[in-house]
Amino acid sequence: MAVRKFGRGVAVVGAGMSKFGAFPEKASRDLFVEAFQDLRESVDKALDPGLIETVYIGNYSSDLFEQQGHTAPIMADAIGLVPRPAVRVEDACASAGVALRQGAMAIASGLYDVVLVGGVEAMNKLPTAQVTDALATAGDALFEIPAGFTFPGFYAAIATAYMHKYGMTPEHLMNVAIKNHDNGALNPKAQFNVSIPDWMEGRKASAKRKGLPEPQWSDTMDFLHDDRANPVIAWPLRLFDCSPITDGAAVVLLVAEDRAKDFTDDPVYIIGSGQASDFPLHDRLDLTSISSAQRAAQDAYAMAEVTADDIRIAEVHDCFTIAEIVATEDLGFFAPGDGYKAAEDGMTARDGAKPVNTSGGLKAKGHPVGASGVGQTVEVFKQMREQAGPRQVAGDVPLAVTHNVGATGNTCVVHVYERR
Ligand code: COA
Repeated sequence: MAVRKFGRGVAVVGAGMSKFGAFPEKASRDLFVEAFQDLRESVDKALDPGLIETVYIGNYSSDLFEQQGHTAPIMADAIGLVPRPAVRVEDACASAGVALRQGAMAIASGLYDVVLVGGVEAMNKLPTAQVTDALATAGDALFEIPAGFTFPGFYAAIATAYMHKYGMTPEHLMNVAIKNHDNGALNPKAQFNVSIPDWMEGRKASAKRKGLPEPQWSDTMDFLHDDRANPVIAWPLRLFDCSPITDGAAVVLLVAEDRAKDFTDDPVYIIGSGQASDFPLHDRLDLTSISSAQRAAQDAYAMAEVTADDIRIAEVHDCFTIAEIVATEDLGFFAPGDGYKAAEDGMTARDGAKPVNTSGGLKAKGHPVGASGVGQTVEVFKQMREQAGPRQVAGDVPLAVTHNVGATGNTCVVHVYERR
């Protein structure tokens, strides 16, 4: 197929996010306003909101989580953008990544010059069991959900298939959780702003305060093997293999390339975009890779005229630890079956050859499902502009990637970013 290009260049000139966490008292609009204020502070030459011409908002299911449909104009109103057109984009957990692609295409088409793209989800209004049911509606409601699948169950099936094919063990998955919590500990916006060793100390201190016996763990792996501290959710996935239930919002400001310098002297350009679909999980011949991710990455790299080797950092969709391992293979960073070894060898750590999820990823930063894709762009924007504080990777970041998955990969959207 012919390589497609944007009709004109698209730049990211601002990025912000709310604190991610559990805030049952906050509505989506509160989170969105918080993210928008953060974005305004990030625009170097200031932003007059009146310049924003349209809004694209990723949201998976405010209908189910907070009984609020028609989310986009509500968010636009909350930040004073009525009567601008406001569009809600839904593609499960890839909603915001797909909204980003829609926003970029709106600029590339020439229709708009200044576009706000965001994502928002407030999940903690419901108890865990109901959140699990709401998320499951992203699976195949005729063939998968009646068979008893939940999202931890889907990804457990992917993990067991991968273990069977490549000899990975559950311990290898733990390396991903340890790394992402290490990164999250350096991200003040993360839901779990704490490393696993610090988490262990907290548990010990709490037991002491309550006069209970202090837990004795010899090291981090010992803690992660403790069925009480880290219970099995869907074998082989334990609590620390799962992303949490999160409330949060993220926004970025996209502008036409020739307008970028009105907002900043240091824009980040979106130079590649790919999106693809895959069959529901039960219809796939192989569970150990996600073909939509491979296709989306190939298309994004082709548009950007880069290869996987050129990419310096990536934010990938680690809704479960196994998902990060598969993502690093689907993106072409490592050969099939090598992703878990690369994680074990520290290649995806902040100081490794290919840093992945420096933000803490969905695992530690949190996963407000309809916002996560734009949350990834916020991290890439900060890292590329050397504004990531203590979690900043060393050296220049000329090229970066975001990889955002809907459900089990029925949708995947990949973007390539460049700092010139
Ligand atoms: N990782 C680590 N710790 C977690 C956690 C996670 N993912 N989720 C919750 N916790 C911690 C809480 O902070 C709390 O700790 P504390 O006792 O020290 O305060 C404790 O575990 C219990 O929290 P709770 O909210 O009661 O957990 P839960 O059992 O209701 O939910 C999961 C845990 C894993 C079932 C839930 O987070 C979940 O469903 N995650 C997956 C979400 C998902 O599927 N997203 C879409 C992916 S495609």
